[in-house]
Amino acid sequence: MINTIQRGCFITLEGIEGAGKSTQIEPLAHVLRKRGIKVLTTREPGGSPIAERLRTLLLDPLNSGMSETAELLLMFAARAEHLEKTIRPALVAGTWVICDRFTDATYAYQGGGRGIDPAHIAILEDLVQGELRPDLTLLFDLPPALGLERARERTGHADRFEQEAVRFFEATRAVYLDRAQACPKRYRVLDASQPLPDISAQVQIIAANFIDAPDKQSQL
Ligand SMILES: Nc1ncnc2c1ncn2[C@@H]1O[C@H](COP(=O)(O)OP(=O)(O)OP(=O)(O)O)[C@@H](O)[C@H]1O
Ligand SMILES: [Mg+2]
Repeated sequence: MINTIQRGCFITLEGIEGAGKSTQIEPLAHVLRKRGIKVLTTREPGGSPIAERLRTLLLDPLNSGMSETAELLLMFAARAEHLEKTIRPALVAGTWVICDRFTDATYAYQGGGRGIDPAHIAILEDLVQGELRPDLTLLFDLPPALGLERARERTGHADRFEQEAVRFFEATRAVYLDRAQACPKRYRVLDASQPLPDISAQVQIIAANFIDAPDKQSQL
C-alpha cells in the first residue's frame, strides 16, 4: 500500500487593524493541536527571512511616499518568498498553516484602500500562488474607529498603514465584506466588536466544525 500524506489545510485570519487576528491565532492553533493536528502559525507580510525584511520596509512610516504599485509588488514579492520557504513545504508535509493576513488583505488594502484595480491583483495572485487559495478564512469585522482605537492602545505608535485615515479603512472593510459575501463557503465572518470571551468561543466552534467537515482542502 502506498503511504500518502494528505496536504495540510490552509487557514487565514483577516480584518482591519485591531480586529483581533493576532489575539486569536494561538488559541485557534491550540484547538487544532488538541485534535492531533500539526499546526504552523505565520503572518503576512513576513513569515520567512526575506519576507520579514520586506515587512519592515512596507510598515516603516519613513516610507510614507512609497508608490502604490511598488507597495503591491512588494506585498507579492514577500508572499512569493513566504509561500516557497514556509507555507508550501508545511502544507506538503501535512502540517496545517494558519496565516495572520494573506491575499484577501491585498484586495482589501491595496485594492479597496489604495484603489488598485482588483483585476491586476488577480493576475499577481495567479502568478504567485498558482492554484493555492485558503481553505478557510476567518474575517474579524468591526468598525474602523474601534479597531484603530484598540491598535493604538496596544502599541502607542502607528505603523505606515495605521497612519491612514478612517476612510481608508472603511474602504478596506467594505472589500473584505464583499469578498466574504461572494464566497460564503470559504469565509466565516465574526462580529469582532464583541467582548473577547465571545469571540474566542466562536473561533473554537468554527474550528471544530471545520475539522469535522469533509472535503476541506482545495488545490495546492
Ligand atoms: N474582542 C476584543 N475585545 C476587546 N479587545 C480586544 C478584542 N480582541 C482583541 N483585543 C485587543 O485589541 C488589541 C488589538 O488586537 P490584535 O493585536 O489581536 O489585532 P490585530 O487584528 O492583530 O491587529 P493588526 O492588524 O494591527 O495586527 C489588542 O490589545 C487585543 O488585546
Ligand atoms: Mg496583528
